[in-house]
Amino acid sequence: MTRKWWHDAVFYQIYPRSFADANGDGIGDINGMRQKLDYLAWLGIDAVWLSPHYPSPQYDCGYDISDYCDVAPEYGTLDDFRAFLAEAHARNIRVIIDFVLNHTSHLHSWFIESRSSKDNPKRDWYIWRDGDGDNPPNNWQSTFGGSAWEYDPTTGQYYYHFFLKEQPDLNWRNPQVVQAMLDVARFWLDMGVDGFRLDAVGTIFEDEHLPNHISPYRSVDFLRNEVEVQLGKPRTVPEKEWERLFVHQVNLPQVHDIMKALRHLTDEYTDRVLIGETADIPYLGDGHDELHMIFNFNLLRDAPFTTDWIRENLTKQYAQLPPGGWMANTLNNHDSTRAISRYDDGTAPIPRAKLSAALLLTLEFTPFLYNGEEIGMSNFEVPHRDQMRDTLALLMGDILINDGHPLDEVYPAMQKMTRDRCRTPMHWANAPNGGFSPEGICTWLPVHPEYANGVNVADQQADHQSLLHFYRTLIALRKSTPALQRGDYREWDVDNDRLFAFVRRTDTQICAVLLNFEATAQLAYIYLPMRVIFSTHGRSGALLNGGVRLSPFEILILEG
Ligand code: GLC
Repeated sequence: MTRKWWHDAVFYQIYPRSFADANGDGIGDINGMRQKLDYLAWLGIDAVWLSPHYPSPQYDCGYDISDYCDVAPEYGTLDDFRAFLAEAHARNIRVIIDFVLNHTSHLHSWFIESRSSKDNPKRDWYIWRDGDGDNPPNNWQSTFGGSAWEYDPTTGQYYYHFFLKEQPDLNWRNPQVVQAMLDVARFWLDMGVDGFRLDAVGTIFEDEHLPNHISPYRSVDFLRNEVEVQLGKPRTVPEKEWERLFVHQVNLPQVHDIMKALRHLTDEYTDRVLIGETADIPYLGDGHDELHMIFNFNLLRDAPFTTDWIRENLTKQYAQLPPGGWMANTLNNHDSTRAISRYDDGTAPIPRAKLSAALLLTLEFTPFLYNGEEIGMSNFEVPHRDQMRDTLALLMGDILINDGHPLDEVYPAMQKMTRDRCRTPMHWANAPNGGFSPEGICTWLPVHPEYANGVNVADQQADHQSLLHFYRTLIALRKSTPALQRGDYREWDVDNDRLFAFVRRTDTQICAVLLNFEATAQLAYIYLPMRVIFSTHGRSGALLNGGVRLSPFEILILEG
C-alpha cells in the first residue's frame, strides 16, 4: 500500500451552520471558519471535512443541495470559500467537502426543469414512473418514512425519493447525469479541495424493474417503533427486517461503476481522497480502484464501551478488511448522538470520554473528530417543537401524533430522537450564546446552556486538565510517535481479560496502549521493559516490568 497523507491524518468534521458565526446573524459561516483555523491548527488536526456548504432550502439541513457549484448565501461567497481553502492550506490543513450524489433538492434547477413536462430534456435526470392505478408505482419506502414515491400533479407521474420528498433521486443511469456530477467534482477539485466525503453512496441506484420489497413492514413502522423505544416501550419491529425493506433500493452493483468513475477522475489530480459514507467493504474496490476509505461506524455504538465489546468488534473488523483496506474511525458525527451523552450512565462521563478518545487516537486507521467533541459537548434536548430543524424528527412526531399519542409523550421522544441534539452551535467561550453569536441574537438552533459550566473552548484552553487539552495532547502524541501513527495492530495479552490492551508496532518502535474501561482497578502483567509516554494517573518515565495496577478508567501508553 502506498502511504498517503490521509493515512496519517487526523480529520475534524465541521458542521458549517453551527461552527462559527462571523457576521453575527445566528448562523455559522465561511468567514467564521476562517477565523477558527488557528484554533484548529492549535488542536493539531490535519484535515477538515465540511458538511454541505452549498445553497440549500434546508429541508435536510443542507443535504438537499440546490446548486452544487456555489456556496450557501448565508455562509458567504465562493471567494470566501477560496480564501478559506487557501488559508487552511497555508496552515497545512487539508479540506474535503461533502458531495451528495443520490439526490438534489427539489428546488435545484435540474429538478424544476425535470418536473415541468414529460418531454423536458431533463425529465430523465430523475426517476419518474406512472402510478399503479391510484397507487404509487410499487411498495418501496423512503428511509425517512412513508412511500418513496411522490405524486406530481403537473405531469400526473410519481418521482422517486429515497430520503425526503424534497430530495428527489437523480437517475444515475442517464449518462448526462453522470457527466454533470463528474463536472461538479471537477469544479471543486480544480479549485483545490483535497477530496470528498461521498454522502449515502449505497443509495444511488435502485432496481430499474421496480420489484416490490419483501418485508411485511413499512419504514414508518420502524420509525414509530424507534420512537416508542424512546418512550420505554419494547422493540417490536425486528431490526433485520430493515435490510429486506430496502433490498431493491440500496447497494446495487451499478454503484461500483460510479465509484470507479469518480476514482478515475480523482486520480487525475495529485493526492485527493474519496471517503464514502458507507461501511461496506466492497466499495474499496477490487485492487482499490474505488473509495480510498470507508467508515467504521461501529464505534458510534449507543452505549459505553466495554472491554469485551471493543475486543470482539475489532477482531471482526480486522477479519473483514482486505489487505491494504482502510477505514475512518469515528465516535461522533452530525447524525449520531453526542458520544459523551452515550457514556453518561451517571458515573464517569469525562473519564469515559477520555478513554474513547484515547482509543480513537491510538488505534490503527484514520480518526475523525466531530466539532464540539473535543470540549465534551453533550446532546441538547431542544426545548420546543418550533425550534427543531431536523425534518426527520418532525416527521416522526407526526407519525406518533397520528397514532394518537399525547403531545406530552411525543415531544420528549422527539427531543431525544432529533438529530438537532448534536448539531447545536459550538461553544467558544463562557459568554452569551456560548460566544457563537453576539448576545441577543437568536441562533438557528438554540445554544446548549452547558457552555456556562466549562464546556467551552476558552475555559478549556486555559485549563490543562481539560478534555480539550487531552485531545490536543493525544493528537500530538499520535503524530510524534511513529508506531501510533503507522504501526500495525495486535491485541496484547496482559493476563487480564477485563483490561483492553494492544500494541502498535513499526520496524523501529513498539507502543502498548492499556485502557481500563472498567470502574474497578485492573492488574496487568507486562513482561517487557517499557517507558511511560502517556498516563492519566501521573505515571512517568520509569521502565515497567511486572505487575501494574490500573485504576478505574486509567489510560496508560508505553513505548518499548
Ligand atoms: C447522509 C447524511 C444525513 C442525510 C442523508 C441524506 O446520511 O449524513 O445527514 O440526512 O445522507 O442526504
